[in-house]
Amino acid sequence: MAKAVFITRKIPDIGIRMLKERGYEVDVNLKDSVLSQKQIIKSLKKKTYDAVLVLLTDRVDSAIFNVAPSVKIYANCAAGYDNIDIIEAKKRGITVTNAPAPLATEAVAEHVIALMFALATRIVEADKFVRRGKYKKWLPMNFMGINLAGKTLGLIGAGRIGERVARLASGLGLKVIYYDVIRNERIEKECGVAYYNSIEELLQKADVVSLHVPLLDSTRHLINEKRLLLMKPTSFLVNTSRGPVVDEKALEKALRKKIIRGAALDVFEFEPKVTPGLKKMDNVVLTPHIASAEGEARNQMAEIAAQNIIDFFENGKPGNIVNP
Ligand code: GLV
Repeated sequence: MAKAVFITRKIPDIGIRMLKERGYEVDVNLKDSVLSQKQIIKSLKKKTYDAVLVLLTDRVDSAIFNVAPSVKIYANCAAGYDNIDIIEAKKRGITVTNAPAPLATEAVAEHVIALMFALATRIVEADKFVRRGKYKKWLPMNFMGINLAGKTLGLIGAGRIGERVARLASGLGLKVIYYDVIRNERIEKECGVAYYNSIEELLQKADVVSLHVPLLDSTRHLINEKRLLLMKPTSFLVNTSRGPVVDEKALEKALRKKIIRGAALDVFEFEPKVTPGLKKMDNVVLTPHIASAEGEARNQMAEIAAQNIIDFFENGKPGNIVNP
C-alpha cells in the first residue's frame, strides 16, 4: 500500500512532486497560513499517515505523537529543529530529520553580510528619510556610517553558516574571530580566523557580533543583559539564528541606553511578535525570518526534506537524522 505523507503547509512544488512521483500519497495543507497544533492534530486524525513533512513554525511534541502513532518520520523543512521534541521522538522510535541545504547556508550567510552593512551604512534609515520627503539639501555630515573593513567580526558558532559568514567577511577585509564549543580548524587555517574560548572575551573584542548557534537549553538567552554590557558601545549585534538566543527585553534596554550601537534581527524571541520598542529605533534593522528565502535555496530545502522521507522508507537510511 502506498505510504501516506502529510505536509503541514505548501512547500516548493519540487518536494511534493518528488514524493508523488515515487508513489506516495501526499496531502498538503493548501491554506497559506500556519496550522495551529490543534489543526495539525485534526488533520493527522483524518487518515493513517506514515510521515509528516513539517515547517519550523509547527510545534511537534507528545501531543502530536500521541494522535499519530503510525507516523515514523517527521522531516523538518528547515536547518533548525528546535520546533520538534527530538528526545521524546527518540524515546518513541520516531525519526526526525532536518534540511541543511547548502544553498540556504549561502543565502543566510549573505543575509548576515547584508544586515551588517545595512547597520554600518545606515541604509534602511536613509531610505526611510528619503521616502518621507526629508531630503531637502545635501549635508556633508548627514547619515555618517562606519566602514567595516578592518573591523572585527565576532562569530558565536562556526558551523556551516558561521563558517560561510567567516569566509565572506574575511574576503571583505574584516578580521574574524569566533567562539564555538567545537573548534573549526578549517577556517582558522584557511581564513586566518582566530578562536576564542570565551564568549565574554569575544564580546569585548568584536565590533560586530553575529550569532550562529542552534536553539538549545544552553543557548537560550545566550545574549543577556550581562553579556550585552561587555560589548563595545560602538558595536552591532546580528541575529539570524533563533530569536530566543537573545533576551529581547535586555537587548531593547541595551539599545535604549546606548550600551551597543545597533542591532539587526531576522528572528525574534516571540516570533512573529517583535518587542515594540525595537520597532521604534532607527538603529535597528528588522527582517521577517527571511534569511534563507532565496528561490533555489527553498527548492533545495524542500527536495532534501522529501528525499529524507523517500530514503527512510526505501532504504532505511535517510540523511540528516537529528535524533540518531
Ligand atoms: C531557518 O530558519 C532554518 O532553520 O532553516
